[in-house]
Amino acid sequence: MITIDGHTRVCGLIGNPVEHTSSPAIHNTLAEIYGHNLVYVPLKVESGRVADAVKGAYELNVLGLNVTVPHKMEVIESLADIDELAACIGAVNTLVRTENGFKGYNTDILGLERALISENAEIKDNTVVVLGAGGAARSAVYLCERMGAAKVYIMNRSVDKACVLADEVETYAGRKFVTVLGIDEADKIEEESFCAIQATSVGLSPNDDEAVIYDDVFYSRVSVGFDLVYRPAVTRFMKLVNEHGGKSANGLKMLLYQGIIAYELWNNISVSEDVAGRVLDKLEETIR
Ligand code: ATR
Repeated sequence: MITIDGHTRVCGLIGNPVEHTSSPAIHNTLAEIYGHNLVYVPLKVESGRVADAVKGAYELNVLGLNVTVPHKMEVIESLADIDELAACIGAVNTLVRTENGFKGYNTDILGLERALISENAEIKDNTVVVLGAGGAARSAVYLCERMGAAKVYIMNRSVDKACVLADEVETYAGRKFVTVLGIDEADKIEEESFCAIQATSVGLSPNDDEAVIYDDVFYSRVSVGFDLVYRPAVTRFMKLVNEHGGKSANGLKMLLYQGIIAYELWNNISVSEDVAGRVLDKLEETIR
């Protein structure tokens, strides 16, 4: 435990609600490991008051903030600067103190990138199937583009929503690489092997027994199945991937790395994989 004194720096999470957050476990563990005189606290902010909160935090010399639901878009108007990727996603979850105000980043997407790399999911020049077309799927599709995926299938219950996302990311990328399918159209996937990212809310606790897709042929072709859900630790989607011989991972590492990248930005350090592993242990302990 750090001793709070006149030099203690404050970081925090703004959102509503914030009571169930696991982020303090990530940041306060990192501060302890590095011996940084820093505390991270949850800060509940009402919608419509985000600008006041950000201005106040800056004047209070707050070192950095995370931003969670429902403020990831509203916060953008309060920034002095914004990272290009965050601007194109239209969502910010991390504010970094600069001379003139806070600069906004999206470490959710960068966290997913680092999590995929740590699970050896090969995205570059490969085919990826993204299940879902909501906010989480949107980040996953933009990330696949950024990581150089050759082809992305977006499979979603509402096909029209998937089409809007496909058009948007193809316009951004300036290349045609997305195919849209309904959730029951797995037979239209041409590739024999692909990485799948489960980005729907189906299977989230307490609905542990549900998966968004049950097709055996689909699962037999999944090399790595990455579920963005991390409660339960092994989702039905992950079980189905494993039963068909594929490797699977849950979304806990995405949560871990989005926090680690924010901490790196605030403190201008690079966190080693060894330290990341220690923080993951702490995070697992907190969540389970
Ligand atoms: P998030 O921000 O977590 O992505 P979201 O934007 O509400 O949440 O998106 C939820 C995703 O889960 C969507 O892709 C949704 O499909 P629709 O676009 O058709 O609504 C998907 N989803 C949620 N419940 C589902 C269900 N019972 N069956 C199939 N897909 C479902």
